[in-house]
Amino acid sequence: MERVPLGGSGIEVTRLCLGAWNMGGQKGWGPESEEVAVSLIHHVLDSGCSFIDTARGYGRGKSEEIVGKGVKGRRDQVVIATKMLQCPPEDVGPNIEASLKCLGTDYVDLYICHWPVPSLPLDPFFEEMVRQREAGNIRAIGVSNFNRKQMETAARYGVVSLQPPFSILWRVADDVVDFCRGNGVAVTPYSPLAQGLLTGRYTRESAKSPGGPRESNVLFSEDVLPDSLKVAAEVDRIADEMGCTSAQVALAWVLQTPGITCALVGASRPSQWDENAGALDLTLSDDDYRTLDDAGKAVWTRFDPEDALWGWKPT
Ligand SMILES: NC(=O)c1ccc[n+]([C@@H]2O[C@H](COP(=O)([O-])OP(=O)(O)OC[C@H]3O[C@@H](n4cnc5c(N)ncnc54)[C@H](OP(=O)(O)O)[C@@H]3O)[C@@H](O)[C@H]2O)c1
Repeated sequence: MERVPLGGSGIEVTRLCLGAWNMGGQKGWGPESEEVAVSLIHHVLDSGCSFIDTARGYGRGKSEEIVGKGVKGRRDQVVIATKMLQCPPEDVGPNIEASLKCLGTDYVDLYICHWPVPSLPLDPFFEEMVRQREAGNIRAIGVSNFNRKQMETAARYGVVSLQPPFSILWRVADDVVDFCRGNGVAVTPYSPLAQGLLTGRYTRESAKSPGGPRESNVLFSEDVLPDSLKVAAEVDRIADEMGCTSAQVALAWVLQTPGITCALVGASRPSQWDENAGALDLTLSDDDYRTLDDAGKAVWTRFDPEDALWGWKPT
């Protein structure tokens, strides 16, 4: 699998990263058991992927524990990213220690600020993250869900990556991506399949109770869903014409977008992962890329760029 630089960190990552949110034990999605999750991680690493993303918040350490079990014995082959919510500086060290314990490792490659918390100042948080990097507990610092102004602060502390939501249906503000490109910060989007909505598996009926965090994803909400499904149908049409699957078209679109370093994608079984990895060999024509861009934008422009995909963000 092709590897690319993770910003200026000196770390290289594959263009597809396994996202482990769905390994946190939340009902309604993800691998059916811990054993299946661990063997899925083995399968993903065997396929050549070297990048896994988890977070403290995914099942309160459960997902980190499963990732730790999955990479046991091959730690040096994997770039592990995990995350914590922005917190007071005195809580940074204990959060990192807890991650190290759950993951069963003595360093995290990329430690990400999961969400900024507007009621807390950013500088003391990043000053402590830099101390942790200097102490060797983490190799690089990343951020997620940051806007342009917050990125300007983060960049002063050598942040190497931004993890925004990004798919045909949900965009990130252009000024944020422009800032990252201009400052050598990697852009590593999450939910590139809109949590399965762009894989051709949903009908109006089945999307009514989609399970897991999709229950509160605004793209599945009653008033947005009909428009989301119209875009999904466009993805299905192009996939039929190209002789590939909808998930592959949706992922190829993300990976072909200028400024995108790699995509974080969840899977609940090896066949989903293998299908998704097929997107790495796919190139959309300019016409198809633009058709999907326009269709998705028509949905996205209903929202404010500061809106959250699940209608929630820290205050
Ligand atoms: N920083 C943040 O705030 C943030 C937020 C969200 C996600 N993330 C990260 O990004 C990763 C990926 O995002 P995500 O899991 O939200 O969304 P996603 O990757 O768009 O969707 C993953 C889900 O889509 C379904 N799926 C995957 N491949 C499929 C295929 N080929 N055919 C049919 N269905 C398929 C699976 O659902 P089933 O399990 O139901 O089969 C899977 O759990 C997460 O795991 C997490 O690491 C970060």
